[in-house]
Amino acid sequence: MTKYTLFTRFVLPFFIGTFAVSLPVSAEEEDSPLTVAMDQTSSALKKLRKIAKDDWASGAKEARIAADGIRKGMKFIPAIVELMPDGKDKDKAIADYRMMMGLSYAAICELELAYLEEDQNKVDAASKKVKGGKKEGHKKYTDD
Ligand code: HEM
Repeated sequence: MTKYTLFTRFVLPFFIGTFAVSLPVSAEEEDSPLTVAMDQTSSALKKLRKIAKDDWASGAKEARIAADGIRKGMKFIPAIVELMPDGKDKDKAIADYRMMMGLSYAAICELELAYLEEDQNKVDAASKKVKGGKKEGHKKYTDD
């Protein structure tokens, strides 16, 4: 076997194969910092569904973690807003996004207070606000 056939039959296919296998991995997009912050909120709120009804301390703790995710996410700009041309409409969208995140933050703080007060009715009312805020925010600022 000549040097040339060794190269074309074994070495070259090996490198092409390695490149093809690694391509989808390197092309995979990383989560945006906003998604990472939102995931913190989301997983803390999911934990709330699993804790015992009278475990008020864990409820308050997870609510605090959830609120902190929103606080972190507030400093980022949603991708669909980032793509808008600079100008007043973009500035308004950014301010509106922050306002809605602020309202979500307040609703989750209300949820923490409800757990600290050990008041199930308040927990239910605050949870409803939190869910509503998420639904509204996602409708406006994600392409879901
Ligand atoms: C309790 C409140 C919220 C929860 C639990 C939550 C949860 C999440 C989760 C899990 C994701 C990631 C989705 C994915 O992986 O595709 C996400 C993304 C996103 N959320 Fe929220 N969210 C909340 C409130 C809000 C609010 C109030 C807004 C807007 C005012 C908002 C705007 C967004 C945006 C723009 C993204 C896309 C992130 C990106 O472009 O990288 N979210 N959210």
